[in-house]
Amino acid sequence: MSEPLWGWDEIVRAAGATADGMPTRTIAGLSIDSRGLAPGEVFVALKDQRDGHEFVSAAFARGAAAALVDTAYVKKPGDGALIRVADTLDGSTGIARAARARLSPEAGVVAVTGSVGKTSTKEMLRACLSRLGPTHAPEKSFNNHWGVPLTLARMPASTRYAVIEIGMNHAGEIIPLTKLARPHVAIVTTVEPVHLGHFASVEAIADAKAEIVEGIEPGGVAVLNRDNPHFTRLEAAARAHGADVVSFGTHERCYVRMVRCVLGPDRTDIEAECGNGRIVYALAAPGRHMAMNSLAVAGAIEALGNDFESTIHAMGALASFGPPQGRGAREKLTGTGGAILLIDESYNANPASMCAALEAMALVPRSEYPRRIAVLGDMLELGEAAPELHGGLLPAVEAAGVDLVFTAGPNMKALHDRLPAARQGHWAATSDGLVEAVTAQVHVGDTVMVKGSFGSRMGPIVAALRARFGGA
Ligand SMILES: Nc1ncnc2c1ncn2[C@@H]1O[C@H](COP(=O)(O)OP(=O)(O)OP(=O)(O)O)[C@@H](O)[C@H]1O
Ligand SMILES: [Mg+2]
Repeated sequence: MSEPLWGWDEIVRAAGATADGMPTRTIAGLSIDSRGLAPGEVFVALKDQRDGHEFVSAAFARGAAAALVDTAYVKKPGDGALIRVADTLDGSTGIARAARARLSPEAGVVAVTGSVGKTSTKEMLRACLSRLGPTHAPEKSFNNHWGVPLTLARMPASTRYAVIEIGMNHAGEIIPLTKLARPHVAIVTTVEPVHLGHFASVEAIADAKAEIVEGIEPGGVAVLNRDNPHFTRLEAAARAHGADVVSFGTHERCYVRMVRCVLGPDRTDIEAECGNGRIVYALAAPGRHMAMNSLAVAGAIEALGNDFESTIHAMGALASFGPPQGRGAREKLTGTGGAILLIDESYNANPASMCAALEAMALVPRSEYPRRIAVLGDMLELGEAAPELHGGLLPAVEAAGVDLVFTAGPNMKALHDRLPAARQGHWAATSDGLVEAVTAQVHVGDTVMVKGSFGSRMGPIVAALRARFGGA
């Protein structure tokens, strides 16, 4: 049997809590979702969109070892051991702090932020670092004020490498999270006009990303994108904090410099020059943007103190690294008479990832799939610049040779109106209104790329295409 994640006294103390009862199971994990809870996990009753206290009984019914609840929670029949705190978020943050403190001095923590590419980079690091030692990383994009504490609270004491994704929508949000994670290495993937609705300028976004350096441990390293226009701003912030800087990109002065990049429809072959020599590796995720993320991964692995041989060994894991779900995963759907290639980018969108996805779509050979169709939903949280940023996608659409563009949402109307008639597909106010037109017009031999912000609900279009063309 594996080690318990936490002892009872230990977790109660870490949460700054009072114990009410004793668990009958050993503690195997923590969960905030009673529906997905595994037996032995501690249910954390967070107050977010819903109040988790409503689901405490359901969590115990699924075999929760205990529940972290407010002091005021009234124990129900069937409830097991309770960890009572004034505030459950503060309680889980306390557990997170203790989890970080109990890591051995040899352990390495990497924090990842950036306007796009956090989860992709996090998953690459998980794959690579797992080759070097027990590695812990978050589920999904758990990167906010509750996701970061939850990820740390779930971290086993024996963790050798931890990867922590840190996101933000507003200035000031990253500081407490990076101070909790106390990374040895902090990556900023890139700075782009995302969440512009909450910021006065892209410089202000860069400053908010730069907050990540505030938590870097003494002697630690910031891994920064040298090709990004905001590099010097981030570099100055890192140096002011006393961190070293490892730069990555194509710029001639990069520490991890891409010297060769062969972009294929399903994989990318990369050669990167590092301080210690040249790393040659393959990446199973297509697109220049993913290749850029992988350079940050190489820089971080080395910055963790690994020698060159170990870094090369770790990077070898990327040969089987496909894009995470909804972030460019490609499916060949075979129906009667042939196949379509479905590119599922439905997880999210902003101007940077939209252009990256269009560029990656253009890698699909026309000899195999003659026609290119893009189904695009609104990119959200762009503030006043939204119409211009949507209409401004036209050059990227043209450069990618997209033959037909379907659009959904009020912002995408700006792109729809700018499209030349030959490329103009149907526009609808919502994604629901597009399903019929898309499924009717897509035919065998098409590459179909579906992308939009999560709130634009492009997932159902992906599902409808799967249903229509089936999978073989
Ligand atoms: N370096 C990059 N440049 C541009 N686009 C990228 C880059 N890396 C990933 N993407 C694209 O951006 C989208 C989001 O990727 P990912 O989930 O990795 O980002 P994230 O920063 O974790 O997003 P979130 O803020 O939603 O957690 C995907 O479509 C992905 O293909
Ligand atoms: Mg993410």
